[in-house]
Amino acid sequence: MNYHLPVLLKETVDSLVVSPGNIYIDATLGHGGHTIEILKQNAIVYGFDQDPNNLEIATQRIKSENLDKNFYPVNSNFTNIKSFLVKQKINKIDGLIADLGLSQNQQTGQNMGFSFNDSSSLDMRLNPHKQTLTAEEIINTYSFDQLYEIFTKIGQELQSKPIILKIIRERQKSPIKTGSRLAQIIRDHYKDKHLHSKIDPSTKIFLSLRIVVNNEYSNLEKLLNQSLEFVKPNGNACFITFHSGEDRIVKQFIVKNKDKLLSYKATKPSFVETKNNPLSRSAILRSYKIR
Ligand SMILES: C[S@@+](CC[C@H](N)C(=O)[O-])C[C@H]1O[C@@H](n2cnc3c(N)ncnc32)[C@H](O)[C@@H]1O
Repeated sequence: MNYHLPVLLKETVDSLVVSPGNIYIDATLGHGGHTIEILKQNAIVYGFDQDPNNLEIATQRIKSENLDKNFYPVNSNFTNIKSFLVKQKINKIDGLIADLGLSQNQQTGQNMGFSFNDSSSLDMRLNPHKQTLTAEEIINTYSFDQLYEIFTKIGQELQSKPIILKIIRERQKSPIKTGSRLAQIIRDHYKDKHLHSKIDPSTKIFLSLRIVVNNEYSNLEKLLNQSLEFVKPNGNACFITFHSGEDRIVKQFIVKNKDKLLSYKATKPSFVETKNNPLSRSAILRSYKIR
């Protein structure tokens, strides 16, 4: 199994300041890369993940490393952490990490619809059992204005208008049901207009769809606000972001709540890390200590 390669691993775990026996929440367990390092320090971890498949992969991995004694997997959205802690009668935790976005297997695999090469799905729900809206529904049923709002405001795609017109023409021929077909429509537009893009031309549109389908911005805002309530004084919260939209939300939260924080800092991956793992290039770790 090729596990997701954790980003800013040492920097994040150092910022969390782990002590044996203390309780931490990993809000985005993924394949457990960060959690494993915390468990190795004999701390207790509640690992949340919305994707049941990733939760199972991490749980098996942690068991196989004999680190499951202090590990509790939770298949839930991280916006439910507060109510979960109330149910567990845990008043406050010692620290929180959230490594936002998708794991590599989600991003590039078949059947989830996140990949430009997914030839079987345009779904994009992290948890199909608990979510209803899919990217397929957005692409095939939303009006020009609704798509324009998503692609420009969230995706910052400058070619939104002609791409949407092309999508609407294409969906009239037959419903757009796969990531690969949507990506081809976008690539064809860039090619026809001789436009060059350093990244795949589909990147911004796929990102904006994913954010809407999974409510990513409002979930992040909820988690940030809740962290002030459930992380102990002197406890740390660490957020790893991967694009400007989510990083702005974390930065603005820190600025707005400065008086409730003892300290805060931002860290970027080292040259060596970005060389070994190009996906880490856009990552920023923002951590803060609760007053
Ligand atoms: C970048 S990966 C985390 C990788 C992990 N740190 C590791 O090293 O393996 C992000 C994970 O968060 C999950 N996720 C995203 N949004 C979530 C949410 N609102 N609630 C719970 N899990 C979420 C995704 O399903 C994915 O597994």
